[in-house]
Amino acid sequence: MGHEIAPDKVAASGGSFTVAVQRMFDKLAPRYDAFNRWASLGLDGGWRRAAIRRLGDCARGTVLDVATGTGDVALAAARAGGRVCGCDFAPRMVAIARAKAATAGLSSGTSFQVARAEQLPYKEACFDAVTSAFAMRNVRPALDQVLEEILRVLRPGGRVVILEFSEPRFAPVRWGHRVYTRALVPRIGRLLTGDSSPFDYLNRSIDAWETPGQFAARIQRVGFIEVGHRALSLGTVALHWGTRPHCPPRPASVSAGRARMGPDPAAERTPRG
Ligand SMILES: C[S@@+](CC[C@H](N)C(=O)[O-])C[C@H]1O[C@@H](n2cnc3c(N)ncnc32)[C@H](O)[C@@H]1O
Repeated sequence: MGHEIAPDKVAASGGSFTVAVQRMFDKLAPRYDAFNRWASLGLDGGWRRAAIRRLGDCARGTVLDVATGTGDVALAAARAGGRVCGCDFAPRMVAIARAKAATAGLSSGTSFQVARAEQLPYKEACFDAVTSAFAMRNVRPALDQVLEEILRVLRPGGRVVILEFSEPRFAPVRWGHRVYTRALVPRIGRLLTGDSSPFDYLNRSIDAWETPGQFAARIQRVGFIEVGHRALSLGTVALHWGTRPHCPPRPASVSAGRARMGPDPAAERTPRG
């Protein structure tokens, strides 16, 4: 099987970053969970649960998990009592998320759609909460557009919680973490999938990623209020949050009112009077 060109290298040969990301994750889907457990040393479940706790009461309402992958955050939200939609543009990831929901007996409280984060197929203000884990680096060329879409689908007062990797600030931890992610993580990935290039891309995308403070400022610029962030696992992961204001200073590109295509499961399942 031929190896794909990594998303951040594909532009040089005239390819599309987004298409390369989609193909990469679709191909990784069957081994994605195993990689996550090994590479995070089993810590990823705790990060996802911390994200759901940060949603507060919003977690028991309607929740959208953007770029849901194999659905772990979506399923954690469903276990916390939410009615959950998960969306992702990699069809094989979505198929696995649906199968996991069925195995966990959570099919009735969850639904999964194949959809792009840049153009979410949901009506304005139809979710109480939006989550997204480890996806923002992968939507980098359209980052503001994705955040604007999240703002649009949240109801006023609704909360967003985002997980991303970050560089530990304490130097000894940063060095140890670098050695682990540079030397070991690509080897773990290669062992599980036969290809280390997606995991080299993972390292480059983390290197190129914003600091938690920069990303928090971006969330605020897009129009969220009550924005904050907190370090998890010695600063290797950052938990971000924000709230859609009641009287929002909406960004111009959001208020342009893009046409909605495709399914509208949240609107069907959560009529608002
Ligand atoms: C690192 S995985 C994270 C998956 C999941 N959120 C988790 O915590 O395990 C990134 C996910 O983002 C999805 N993704 C990347 N860019 C996307 C986009 N533009 N629209 C929708 N999904 C996207 C990928 O298909 C992949 O499933």
